[in-house]
Amino acid sequence: MDKIVIQGARRLKGEVEISGAKNATLPIMAAALLTDEVSRIEGVPRLRDVQTMIRLLRVLGAKVDFSNGALEIKPSRTLKTVAPYHLVSTMRASFCVLGPLLARLGRADISLPGGCVIGARPIDLHLKGLASLGASITIEHGFVKARANRGLKGEDIYLGGKFGSSVLATANVLMAATLAKGVTYIENAACEPELVDLADFLVKMGAKIQGQGSHLIEIRGVQKLHGAKHRVITDRIEAGTFMVAGAMQKSNDITIRNCNPEHNHALLDKLQEAGIRVRRTKSTVRISRHGKLEPVDVTTLPYPGFPTDLQAQLMALASVTPGISVITEKIYPDRFMHVSELNRMGANIFLEGSSAIVHGKSRLSGAPVMASDLRASAALVLAGLAAEDKTEVHRVYHLDRGYENIEEKLLKLGADIKRERE
Ligand code: EPU
Repeated sequence: MDKIVIQGARRLKGEVEISGAKNATLPIMAAALLTDEVSRIEGVPRLRDVQTMIRLLRVLGAKVDFSNGALEIKPSRTLKTVAPYHLVSTMRASFCVLGPLLARLGRADISLPGGCVIGARPIDLHLKGLASLGASITIEHGFVKARANRGLKGEDIYLGGKFGSSVLATANVLMAATLAKGVTYIENAACEPELVDLADFLVKMGAKIQGQGSHLIEIRGVQKLHGAKHRVITDRIEAGTFMVAGAMQKSNDITIRNCNPEHNHALLDKLQEAGIRVRRTKSTVRISRHGKLEPVDVTTLPYPGFPTDLQAQLMALASVTPGISVITEKIYPDRFMHVSELNRMGANIFLEGSSAIVHGKSRLSGAPVMASDLRASAALVLAGLAAEDKTEVHRVYHLDRGYENIEEKLLKLGADIKRERE
């Protein structure tokens, strides 16, 4: 296993290029199963989660070629319909093959995704939505078994849960409904940009979809979809992580290229409130920090609210911002594994229910820390960049699930960072 070693307190300056969005790529790869024709997906990041999805598509009977950032996917006419535990359990997004397999082949046996370190991650909304389309669903021996022998039928579906909308449940139902008979309405649909990108890909495949990006999506079922070519949007969470990196220390000045600032509105607003200078064009954001920062209060919410996937990174920033910041997690109330690790670096954070009360300081001190999940790992790297002396982030394989070449990108910005074998 690798670790990342950082000598902190180096000024970051220069430009960084953002990669394609992981959370757009993964459902789009699943959507390619809705046809037996070839689809080409461009701008795909080289990440462990993408490799896992490639393995799953191959197990299901698709030919997949991945070179120069482009995926070519050619599903066979008669796909296998069983998604095994050893793949689904390592990556929740693989549960997204359920909708396409059910819609195209009338059956799917998908391993339950299982627990997750960021807290409970139920699948009731996925199942509710697909059952509304006429699938019969049972759970046996750790597998979701879905059947639609006579095909799926359009329906008016309310897809809201305890914590609001669900990104991947909306994706699953959206994909299944493209081949259902009649019209489907998804109410309380998720509006995340990655879902809009999925819908755009489906439309290129011949699907009839309206309302993507709003809480009401209308899907008119068609008999058949065809292969399509698509370039995925850029990764707003990676972009946001670099925006926070730029804010972590005085006199940092970095330009984030190949991003869509609109997708990071909530974060940029908070950074400005904290005292960061933000200059943006259509596809770049320049972050520079001069004076002292002010603490900020943040609550995570579905898009366009502040994303849960940037909560840990913002907490790293709050840890080095003198004053009290309150960070409340409304999507995954237990997503706080980074708190104890940030405290090992000298931060002063305590939890009160689903809120973290952060007593910010002017400096953290480098320490060995343990990454527990993807975004927590990113937060520890950010903290290490701003901390005095050496930080070692262990178990970095989490980071490789979602950040393409993160050390190279940070090195180019002037960080003192390297990867070492444990
Ligand atoms: N929920 C339910 N029932 C369901 C599904 C979800 O109650 O059937 C709840 C969840 O427990 C949570 C809330 O709904 O409280 C929202 O979860 P959502 O379903 O939207 O999460 P997801 O679709 O499984 C995606 C991203 C996550 C990101 C969340 C929230 C992908 C591959 N994953 O997960 O990304 O945190 O949306 O924005 O798109 C990450 O990239 O690090 C990551 C975890």
